[in-house]
Amino acid sequence: MPELAYINGRVMPIEDAVVSVEDRGYQFGDAVYEVIASYGGKMFCIKEHFVRLDRSMKELHFPIAQIDEIRRAAVDLFSKAKIERAAVYIQVSRGVSPRNHSFPANIPVQVVMTVRKIEEKNPPIRETGISAITVEDFRWGRCDIKTVQLLPNVLAKQKALEAGCFDAIFVSKDGIVREGSSSNLFILSGGMLITHPLTPDILPGITRSLVIDICREKEYPVQERFFDKSELYEAVEVFLTGTITEVLPVVKIDGRPVGNGKVGPVARMFQEGLLVRLKNE
Ligand code: PDD
Repeated sequence: MPELAYINGRVMPIEDAVVSVEDRGYQFGDAVYEVIASYGGKMFCIKEHFVRLDRSMKELHFPIAQIDEIRRAAVDLFSKAKIERAAVYIQVSRGVSPRNHSFPANIPVQVVMTVRKIEEKNPPIRETGISAITVEDFRWGRCDIKTVQLLPNVLAKQKALEAGCFDAIFVSKDGIVREGSSSNLFILSGGMLITHPLTPDILPGITRSLVIDICREKEYPVQERFFDKSELYEAVEVFLTGTITEVLPVVKIDGRPVGNGKVGPVARMFQEGLLVRLKNE
């Protein structure tokens, strides 16, 4: 089935999609985005993704955009592509205008979307777990806004790959563990799941909040609090969460095994819990 793109109302094969060099997303990183996954031909957590997109645009004082129209266009593009297991990428920039730092007056936002197949990794990393490195978090102070300014994330991921690992975990200068390069992070410590609280230093992940919700449903103890690198190293289990990532066990960090170095039962329980949510949405 075709991988499709959308630019401001026009639908086309992905390889034909081009935007102006004066798109502010391209020149300034002045754009926000969402990635929505589909399962069995259905987009998952659409409402939550559009609430976050709307918030991101408002936080950056974008011109008023019709969020419901963007949502309808995304659903329509997804149904045209007829790809059961897809990643729907939605990017909204402040618009197209001659390069100038100040906000351009009276121009509409530019909406770009793609629908692409999600290829599962082989060997299946959710079964085997992954290894990660820690890297210093040198991102800006508003990581809660989902902007396309992802250079620190890109450099962190590449550093992990070059170290023979799958991903990087951001740790602040003073040792606070934040999140993965494109995911949130949970540790199992003292019989509790622990994750960084919602502050401007991390993205308020939709999968993160689903996992917390599953904890409440199962009466599994969970805490949103700060923890440092030594607690990360001592954790019994560690996993990453994200839209494409789902629940991904981390079995080695900075060359040290996490717990017994194998995927643990708690990560498995939350992998299953997420699958149940996917089926029942
Ligand atoms: N990344 N933290 C960061 C820095 C992220 O980039 C992401 C998602 C998450 C998890 O959020 P969610 O559960 O809502 O997907 C946390 C997307 C998928 C990406 O950039 O491809």
